[in-house]
Amino acid sequence: MPGGRTEMETVKIAIVDDVAGMRNSLGFLLEREGYRVSIFENGIEILNALPQKTFDLYLLDICLPEMDGFQLLERVFEHDPDAPVVMMTGQASIDSAVRAMRKGAYDYLRKPFEHEDLLKTVRNVLEKKRLKKENRAMLDQLSLSEKRYRYIVQNSPDIIYTLDPAGVFMFVNEAVERILGFAPEELIGSPFHRIVHPDDRLKSRWLFEERRSGERAAAGIEIRLLCQKDSAAYRHCLIKHMAVSEREGEIFRRTESGRISIYGVARDVSYRCQLESQLREAQKMEAIGTLAGGIAHDFNNILMCIQGYASLMLSSLDSKNEFYDKLLNVERNVQLGAELTARLLGFARRGKYHVRPVDLNGMVRRTAEMFGRTKKEITIHYGLREDLWTALADEGQIEQVLLNLYVNAWQAMPDGGKIYLQTENAALPDEEIARIGLKAGNYVMLSVTDTGIGMDEEIQERIFEPFFTTKERGRGTGLGLASAYGILKNHGGAIRVVSSKGAGSTFTIYLPITEASVEETHRPIQEIRKGNETVLLVDDEENILQVTREMLQKMGYEVLVARNGGDALDLLRQGAERIDLMILDMIMPGLSGGKTFDLVKKVRRDLKVLLSSGYCINGEAEEIIRRGCDGFIQKPYTMNDLSKRIAAVLGGRKQKLRSLEA
Ligand SMILES: Nc1ncnc2c1ncn2[C@@H]1O[C@H](COP(=O)(O)OP(=O)(O)OP(=O)(O)O)[C@@H](O)[C@H]1O
Ligand SMILES: [Mg+2]
Repeated sequence: MPGGRTEMETVKIAIVDDVAGMRNSLGFLLEREGYRVSIFENGIEILNALPQKTFDLYLLDICLPEMDGFQLLERVFEHDPDAPVVMMTGQASIDSAVRAMRKGAYDYLRKPFEHEDLLKTVRNVLEKKRLKKENRAMLDQLSLSEKRYRYIVQNSPDIIYTLDPAGVFMFVNEAVERILGFAPEELIGSPFHRIVHPDDRLKSRWLFEERRSGERAAAGIEIRLLCQKDSAAYRHCLIKHMAVSEREGEIFRRTESGRISIYGVARDVSYRCQLESQLREAQKMEAIGTLAGGIAHDFNNILMCIQGYASLMLSSLDSKNEFYDKLLNVERNVQLGAELTARLLGFARRGKYHVRPVDLNGMVRRTAEMFGRTKKEITIHYGLREDLWTALADEGQIEQVLLNLYVNAWQAMPDGGKIYLQTENAALPDEEIARIGLKAGNYVMLSVTDTGIGMDEEIQERIFEPFFTTKERGRGTGLGLASAYGILKNHGGAIRVVSSKGAGSTFTIYLPITEASVEETHRPIQEIRKGNETVLLVDDEENILQVTREMLQKMGYEVLVARNGGDALDLLRQGAERIDLMILDMIMPGLSGGKTFDLVKKVRRDLKVLLSSGYCINGEAEEIIRRGCDGFIQKPYTMNDLSKRIAAVLGGRKQKLRSLEA
């Protein structure tokens, strides 16, 4: 007996027949074979029992009172959809047998039937049921396995895809959305080369050649894949293809015959590429920095020597001597050379460096307002973050950086335009490190955006190199950004550019921050010497009058202004005693500084006079000083410079020509 006796004991069979003789003899027979039999007279009886019980096999008579066998069949399926049912038909009708099978019966028996037929049918049905169960378990297993792979593929950080023999996407996982911004459905049905960067299309052919040659690039090929959002944006991806053919439920690698599809994986390696290019860039700048630093250092020594001898000769020459002015010229040019080397040193990061807590907003506002006053053709817009963190910086050096950036922006907008200055707190996460070339951490950030001519990529790659300039001779030395780069690097900060030709530029600087507050270190402002005297300011340039008046007022002085020598004299005559100091521009139309000085001295012999000029101190200024002028200050001057000079003059210490140049 198949299955053996112990297994048989668990097989439960239900018999439903209204004919007592029939059901009893069937029951007797089956029990004798070892099955456990339950006997029911009609449909109602078994349906009442069904909610609590199930059977391994149902023998249903078709001719039943109340509900016939077909109706009962349906009701049994409601309880047990897979119930193995054998219908017994008395009419020997083929039709009813077919109908029973259609309705889902496993088999049928035509009465009258032999014992052997009954047992054979029962065994068959039980075997069929077992096979069906096994089959279902296998299908479940298969679907579980399929789901498992699907999960793994969809959760992969890499893009995983399959291409048909024409190179068209058949499947692509969800990673493609995160990396390139395409929804998988957008790509399915379109060719792979749609997402390949145009410059890499030729290279990407190797990916498809591999399926033929079979030798190439087990390690993968690096190719730029396009992002959906921005047609210019791309990611560097390392791509591996596997050429396969799928036949009769099998996968064959690199077969020559049959349709060849591709299984592909694309890994985003942009981060590594960025780090590499940062490293290359840093090494290049380091090398140029060493070179520039060496040159600047040696040149400073040479300049010092020239300067020293020129000073010595000047000190023993009379100003009437024919070489006197020539030597002054030598000095002036030494000065220009020294400025150049100072900028080079800035780049080489060998400059002096005094960091302290700095309010970047304040600095930006101050420097930009000063700059904007003289550049009427550009407007400056501020977007300064209010609770900006405190930067840790050398104020003087950063000021230099800012001015360089403003000047560049201005020069990039010959027909005028806008400069946007924005500050922001920047907590740089690890992912940003490669892009900006900084350690992760907190920084303050300033961006200077202009609406100027912009730069193409080729220029952008070189702008931080010393002496790289696109400006005509005499307009640019190409040291502005190089020194900015060095200064920021020296601060543990960075400078970055985003630009495209014709579309303006944005320079962004990052400075490290400090917990210390700015207050305690506002010494430079406190150092400014204040006064309450009255100052007469004489200058023909409205801008200069404005800014200098503001500076003086800030220092506590009372200020009167005159736009030419004549006005100055009038004012002096009116309130001669009240005025303590006159700041006098040297070059003015009409009455020059020198002439005004002489006339003023006739009105007020004791009046202190500070001469001021945009030129370096020269013969004429020196002459005026000799005639009793108290001091000289060169434009542009800082408030600090001005306060020191005024204090010196009002303190009665007459400045000597030599010391003025220090
Ligand atoms: N805002 C900008 N817009 C367009 N191009 C710029 C801008 N800033 C800098 N550049 C480009 O970068 C080059 C280098 O700038 P950098 O400030 O180092 O030198 P420069 O301005 O030419 O000379 P210098 O600053 O020494 O007077 C410039 O010549 C210019 O081509
Ligand atoms: Mg510049």
